[in-house]
Amino acid sequence: MKTKHLIKLGAFGISTVLFSRKKAILGTIILTDKCNLHCKHCSVNNLTAVMHPYAQIKKEMEVLYNQGIRILFFCGGETFLWNGEEKNTHPSTQSKITDGLREPCHNKTLRDLVIEAKKMGFYIVNVVTNGTFKIDLPEADLILLSLDGDRERHNIIRGDTYDTIMKNIDEATSDNICFYMAINKINRDCIKHVCEVAKNKPMVRAVSFNFHTPYPDTVELELNVEEKQHCCDEIGKLIDQDYPIFNLKTAFPYIVHNNFPTPCYQCVVMENGKLSICGRCIDVPGLCEKCGYFFAAEYTLLFSGKIKIAVDMLNTYLRYI
Ligand SMILES: C[S@@+](CC[C@H](N)C(=O)[O-])C[C@H]1O[C@@H](n2cnc3c(N)ncnc32)[C@H](O)[C@@H]1O
Ligand code: SF4
Ligand code: SF4
Repeated sequence: MKTKHLIKLGAFGISTVLFSRKKAILGTIILTDKCNLHCKHCSVNNLTAVMHPYAQIKKEMEVLYNQGIRILFFCGGETFLWNGEEKNTHPSTQSKITDGLREPCHNKTLRDLVIEAKKMGFYIVNVVTNGTFKIDLPEADLILLSLDGDRERHNIIRGDTYDTIMKNIDEATSDNICFYMAINKINRDCIKHVCEVAKNKPMVRAVSFNFHTPYPDTVELELNVEEKQHCCDEIGKLIDQDYPIFNLKTAFPYIVHNNFPTPCYQCVVMENGKLSICGRCIDVPGLCEKCGYFFAAEYTLLFSGKIKIAVDMLNTYLRYI
């Protein structure tokens, strides 16, 4: 991360705490909910299967940027499935079209979006993916790649994809991959395994954990407080042993007991023109009290002025971004 960006983020944090502001800094754009997988724990895939067009995504990026968002995530559905036609509206081209000489439209890809976002001025641009497509995205700051356990447990949750993902990681063109693991009843014994894989793959920088957030159709996968405590103890020990883990140990006690403030006003999500505070899950009644997303805890605690969280975040972000 550039020093000038770090200073500006620091200033944003200080003014948010001092004046109890509710302005957002982190935004997520959902490119599509279309997905090639149907993971056991996921409630947001293929609800509409609409691929949002390039012009719409670009507009959404501008709206977020103008609101002051500087950390941007692209999410899905599956982000690497996204492509968008850029409509050619130039008059000279239109006359050629009427002459029957149709110029090819430029098909925009995820990579174009990341480059566009960087050009627009976002400080950090991250992408979330299931890793089943070739990974050639050096322009992203982080590629959050979902790995949900060892081969057996990952495949139970995500279908037979583990070997494809490992091959794609080995052939990736940049070392900006960070594993993203949603810990649930099925894979809670795989924490160390995922950390070991991260440590041994040169293209993988770290692992970022979440707990399963129990949408109404996946409540059976939710961990209880004792199980969450056990997982956080294990992750904490792995952090102490210098495994590459992109989470804040100081936030664990709040995450285990779900006693962090929700929703997080410094995060927003944009899906098909609709802007929501915190996550798209905000509309699910009662879900915030059971939230498993570590970012929600980490950001609300940071912006409520917890010094230990701020120091932990600074150290962790400087290490991995
Ligand atoms: C919805 S997916 C979209 C991006 C991409 N398809 C993928 O799987 O990474 C984003 C992340 O949310 C996680 N996720 C899905 N449902 C979840 C839930 N109920 N609780 C916690 N994480 C969840 C997934 O495991 C994935 O890491
Ligand atoms: S790959 Fe991602 S979006 Fe697709 S079903 Fe799995 S978690 Fe959901
Ligand atoms: S706090 Fe609520 S809206 Fe925010 S991520 Fe958690 S469940 Fe979703």
